[in-house]
Amino acid sequence: MSMNININEELITNSALRNISGSAMHNDKNSIKIAIIGAGGHTRSALNLLRNFYKSEQLYIFDDSFKADADEQIGGVSVIGQIDSITSEYRVFLSVGNNVLRKNLYYRFINQLVTISFIHSDATIENNVTIGNSNQIFANSYINSYTNIGNNNIINTSAILEHEVKLGDHNHIAIGAKLCGRVEIGNNCLLGAGSIVIDNISICDDVIIGAGSVVIRDIKGSGTYAGNPVRKIK
Ligand SMILES: CC(C)(COP(=O)(O)OP(=O)(O)OC[C@H]1O[C@@H](n2cnc3c(N)ncnc32)[C@H](O)[C@@H]1OP(=O)(O)O)[C@@H](O)C(=O)NCCC(=O)NCCS
Repeated sequence: MSMNININEELITNSALRNISGSAMHNDKNSIKIAIIGAGGHTRSALNLLRNFYKSEQLYIFDDSFKADADEQIGGVSVIGQIDSITSEYRVFLSVGNNVLRKNLYYRFINQLVTISFIHSDATIENNVTIGNSNQIFANSYINSYTNIGNNNIINTSAILEHEVKLGDHNHIAIGAKLCGRVEIGNNCLLGAGSIVIDNISICDDVIIGAGSVVIRDIKGSGTYAGNPVRKIK
């Protein structure tokens, strides 16, 4: 694994070997309380990013589905309240796969967010990659050189971002999606599981690409696209 990563703010992995962060926040990381927003499927995965850095007792889940009498836990972490009940003592982690919701929460909690980007120890980041704030990069994803990643993106398990990819903010690159070299993705896009974008293609803001779909031409209008090659379906 390469170590020469350009860091916009702070960067963190769940491996001590790759933990190259060093802020005051990290110096007191053992006393920090993390409010994980979201009790859905994504949290089952995201806990694996968080757990190797924070102790279980530092983690608390908040979701509007919270019911006081339910005693719900996910992987041993308790769901303790609705989102409105998150106080200023917490730093916030957005465990929400839906881009629109995650974007709205990003701005709502901008002053409380954990700004570091979490990178799984089994992800590979090559040299000369820039990574913004509050990204989540899951296991077996591969990010090649001269790729730029904005803020609040999810790069899910086994996704590939080849050389010189540009990724904006609030995107979800789903499991196994492949972005070939020099692909540019705007903001708020979902690239579905196993989708492929061939090299030199641009996709504008607010686009959903269906699972298993193949993008061979630039996409210039927001909407939902699916198939091989993709066609606009909504
Ligand atoms: C593309 C997608 C968003 C469309 O969902 P939807 O808006 O509910 O659309 P529908 O299921 O009503 O399908 C509309 C049409 O598109 C077709 N379609 C839907 N998804 C498709 C896909 N991935 N590939 C090809 N065609 C697809 C449907 O067959 C249907 O065609 P029809 O009108 O001829 O019957 C959804 O199917 C999808 O692929 N989501 C991605 C899921 C994913 O990867 N999640 C990430 C988890 S990590």
